[in-house]
Amino acid sequence: MRSFLLKLSIIFLTQSHNLSESATSECTLTGNSLENLTSILATCKEISIANLQVPAGETLALNAQNDSIIIFEGNITFGYKEMTSLLITIQGNNITVAGAPGHLLDGGGARWWDGLGGNGGKKKPNFIELRLENSLVKNLNVKNSPKHCFIIIDSENVILTDNICDNLDGDTQGGHNTDAFAAFNSKDITITNCVVFNQDDCFAIKSGSGYVFTNNFCHGGHGISVGSVGGRANNVVENVFIKNNTVVNSENGIRIKTNYNTTGIITNVTYEDITIENITDYGFLIRGDYLNSGPTGEPTPGFELSHLTFRNIRGTVQSGGTNVYVLLSNGVASNWIVENIKIVGGLKKDVQCLGIPSDCNLSCKDHNGGPSQYLSLSLLSTLIFLIVLR
Ligand SMILES: *[C@@H]1O[C@H](CO)[C@@H](O)[C@H](O)[C@H]1NC(C)=O
Ligand SMILES: *[C@@H]1O[C@H](CO)[C@@H](O)[C@H](O)[C@H]1NC(C)=O
Ligand SMILES: *[C@@H]1O[C@H](CO)[C@@H](O)[C@H](O)[C@H]1NC(C)=O
Ligand SMILES: *[C@@H]1O[C@H](CO)[C@@H](O)[C@H](O)[C@H]1NC(C)=O
Ligand SMILES: *[C@@H]1O[C@H](CO)[C@@H](O)[C@H](O)[C@H]1NC(C)=O
Ligand SMILES: *[C@@H]1O[C@H](CO)[C@@H](O)[C@H](O)[C@H]1NC(C)=O
Ligand SMILES: *[C@@H]1O[C@H](CO)[C@@H](O)[C@H](O)[C@H]1NC(C)=O
Ligand SMILES: *[C@@H]1O[C@H](CO)[C@@H](O)[C@H](O)[C@H]1NC(C)=O
Ligand SMILES: *[C@@H]1O[C@H](CO)[C@@H](O)[C@H](O)[C@H]1NC(C)=O
Ligand SMILES: *[C@@H]1O[C@H](CO)[C@@H](O)[C@H](O)[C@H]1NC(C)=O
Repeated sequence: MRSFLLKLSIIFLTQSHNLSESATSECTLTGNSLENLTSILATCKEISIANLQVPAGETLALNAQNDSIIIFEGNITFGYKEMTSLLITIQGNNITVAGAPGHLLDGGGARWWDGLGGNGGKKKPNFIELRLENSLVKNLNVKNSPKHCFIIIDSENVILTDNICDNLDGDTQGGHNTDAFAAFNSKDITITNCVVFNQDDCFAIKSGSGYVFTNNFCHGGHGISVGSVGGRANNVVENVFIKNNTVVNSENGIRIKTNYNTTGIITNVTYEDITIENITDYGFLIRGDYLNSGPTGEPTPGFELSHLTFRNIRGTVQSGGTNVYVLLSNGVASNWIVENIKIVGGLKKDVQCLGIPSDCNLSCKDHNGGPSQYLSLSLLSTLIFLIVLR
């Protein structure tokens, strides 16, 4: 009872402190309840979500009228409950979603993190799901998502710009499956100028077409991925343009993965001007044997991977990792353009290199230590040269 009253008075103080600001607008959702959300969405086209504490177990479902503007202000927090639904969903046509200066969407992910992500342990919600058309999502400052930061699904013609997904705390507190942007069955989606600290894919394209991913910074996760593709209703990824991104301290740099024993198409995908640094596992990875529970080592032939371009991909892998790894069934890959791949540092020897189209420039052997002592020596001399240079 005492603590209940204490909480009440804290809530009262918090609200009264900002009372004038909140009271001026019937279109502001604030406080610790969603009870006014339905009427706000029905009557307002300029909506402010300000210093809101979303009750545990509830979803802030912003199913907005067409042509609405939604602004997040102050500190938005979420009560803790094990759940598999979302913390926030945003839906509508011609919607602008923006964060005001100084705002924070604080998922408090550490309360759910147990190192298992979606594979077990606590049931964890994903943070923000977008089902948007002709919309803009900008300047959002998202912190500590229990699982995925942003899911983009059944969307079309959406730009996400200048958003932050900061799950850095998850590096030491058990964050897992904290993908920054996962995209399903969408069309013409641009993600640009975003900054990501997380523990899974920076971007994961599962299906859809017309994705552009430019000028983003990715730290700590699993790299920029197409996949895993296969085994869903939509198993086609096409017309993807990934340019000028940096991937640092991550498991992989870039990767394409298709699920074992599934079918689908990955076509017209470009990775260009990608800098990778301090990658632990694979700098450049394409595999056709993926299973979430662990790749099988046997790529299956149900996919087409055609018209892929890899241009100017440069950087470093840790010595325990692999620079370039490709494991595809023979004949699934065709029409690749490979120019200027310079990934160094990985010295792992038992590297797969299967299924690369014979008419392209890519060769794992040129990039990996492999059996060739010459290459390891040249890496060593490059390193010494760099050290001398410094
Ligand atoms: C809901 O709106 C009414 C009318 O504007 C207001 O009096 C009430 O405080 C609001 N409830 C919450 C939880 O903000
Ligand atoms: C909202 O936009 C959608 C998609 O363009 C359209 O189908 C729908 O009719 C619009 N709704 C209203 C109420 O205008
Ligand atoms: C989109 O919404 C904005 C308000 O945010 C409005 O000014 C504009 O006319 C709308 N565009 C279309 C095509 O309806
Ligand atoms: C009051 O609102 C301002 C501006 O949105 C915000 O910076 C501040 O944290 C809020 N104060 C409280 C106690 O919620
Ligand atoms: C936001 O609120 C949470 C929960 O009360 C608190 O832990 C966090 O420090 C707040 N962040 C800011 C920037 O006010
Ligand atoms: C590349 O992206 C960075 C941000 O990551 C940006 O500062 C820079 O201007 C971009 N370069 C070009 C040529 O667009
Ligand atoms: C390939 O994808 C690019 C976007 O990266 C797009 O501009 C182009 O039209 C696509 N080509 C075809 C043949 O669809
Ligand atoms: C490289 O990554 C490792 C973790 O794999 C990390 O401990 C180390 O600090 C990173 N190096 C730099 C220079 O950031
Ligand atoms: C491959 O998938 C088919 C169904 O799509 C299934 O019948 C078969 O057992 C699977 N094979 C393996 C080796 O998993
Ligand atoms: C092979 O690499 C060279 C030099 O980088 C480039 O000019 C050429 O277009 C590449 N060929 C293919 C098929 O990728």
